[in-house]
Amino acid sequence: PIHPGLPFVGNTLEIARDPLAMFGRLFQRYDRIVKINIGGRNQYLVFRPEDAKHVLQENHRNYGRSPAFLILKRFLGEGLLTSDGDFWRQQRRLAQPAFHRQKIALLGETMVQESAAWIDELAQHDLTTPVNTSQAFMDVTMRIVCKTLFSTDVTGSDALDGLSNALDTLNRLANDSLLSPIKWPQHWPTPRNIRFRQARERVDKLIYSLIADRQRTGERHDDLLDMLMYAEDEENGRMSEQQLRDECVTLFTAGHETTAVSMAWTTYLLARHPDVLARLRAEVDATLGPYAPGTLPSIAAFRAMPYTLQVVQEGLRLYPPAWAMSRMALGEDQIGPFRIPKGDTVLVSPYLLHRDPAHWPDPDRFDPDRFLPEQEKERPAYAYLPFGGGPRLCIGNQFALLEMQILLALLVQRFDFQPANTRLVRPKPLITLRPNRPIELHLTARP
Ligand code: HEM
Repeated sequence: PIHPGLPFVGNTLEIARDPLAMFGRLFQRYDRIVKINIGGRNQYLVFRPEDAKHVLQENHRNYGRSPAFLILKRFLGEGLLTSDGDFWRQQRRLAQPAFHRQKIALLGETMVQESAAWIDELAQHDLTTPVNTSQAFMDVTMRIVCKTLFSTDVTGSDALDGLSNALDTLNRLANDSLLSPIKWPQHWPTPRNIRFRQARERVDKLIYSLIADRQRTGERHDDLLDMLMYAEDEENGRMSEQQLRDECVTLFTAGHETTAVSMAWTTYLLARHPDVLARLRAEVDATLGPYAPGTLPSIAAFRAMPYTLQVVQEGLRLYPPAWAMSRMALGEDQIGPFRIPKGDTVLVSPYLLHRDPAHWPDPDRFDPDRFLPEQEKERPAYAYLPFGGGPRLCIGNQFALLEMQILLALLVQRFDFQPANTRLVRPKPLITLRPNRPIELHLTARP
């Protein structure tokens, strides 16, 4: 089926108005797949987990990055998220060991320290005013990603602060220009292009000098940059400085907003479901015990809290930060009734798949028990894909899950929280699935 559109613009206006509502309507109206036209390009939205699996995993060699990624390249270069083909494969091989379970546990120590320090700061705040969680989680996840990337022992140093500020500016400008309806050519001296170039130069200068310092002194650190710097491939050796720069900027970008947005949604859900919050708290209290200043729980403790993980998973189901993924067909393919011509794009939407009543009874209900092992067995693979799937599965998925478990557990250990108002918050699909208004919570310190 082809979704009817307007002359010249196809379905562009309809999707621009409200992409999630449009996806919902298409899901109701068509059976397995539908062809739409956005910005003059044919795109095929798939509705079934097996078709998502086909595109992302079984026939992944037939698909590459879609043109949407070209804009991101300006910012991220040829990092893991934006690169393709043999170059991507080699980078992924080099970077993969840095995300091994044991390495994540090591980085987890940093996550615990940073999260605990952030919670101490929260506790100092005037708790009579509500906390803007969207902003607060962005701050802490940025601290965590900077520390785990660039080192654990430069606390408060100008270098790290300067770098995180510069990266943040670059990230904001890249987001702005991605979302801007008018795309001026990059080389035009528009104010945004000039600011973007300056921010990029600053980020590059800081990252290159960090790399040069390490190379000069030979100093070793337990961080991602070190793991990437010394990763070696028999054929191609180590990453060049440019590759290291691109991977650092990519990990910074891919690794903090997603987690921050998801934490904001999860606390929003918890504040509205006191029964779930009470169960979560019981598990946290039984495992971590009461808060004791100056002592930090071990990673093993966080990994021994299954209900906390279920809460995180259910938050990611209802509000998957990566709400849609796109792939361009490098050669012809067949999905259901459609022949997908070379050059067209296939869209996979975790948001849609996560709310399909065929696999998720009463899909809008927040119910972490859906992730009990016996329930999980019932569902097809790819009915749940907050981290994508196949060879391009999010490299940071274990990192993100552990980080969210830590943040959530430490937060409920210290605070009770209630919604600051009764206003409904709706998802706003930008690059990530953000809340359409700040999510505010009232925190009260637990006795
Ligand atoms: C890729 C989601 C956290 C680094 C992806 C993809 C998804 C995703 C869906 C696949 C995109 C595609 O196939 O087109 C998420 C979510 C996160 C999260 C929901 C948090 C809740 C992180 C973290 C890091 C990270 C913490 C790094 C520290 C990456 C990278 C890729 C990626 C480098 C590209 C992988 C490749 O193509 O080889 N992420 N991510 N992500 N993610 Fe994440």
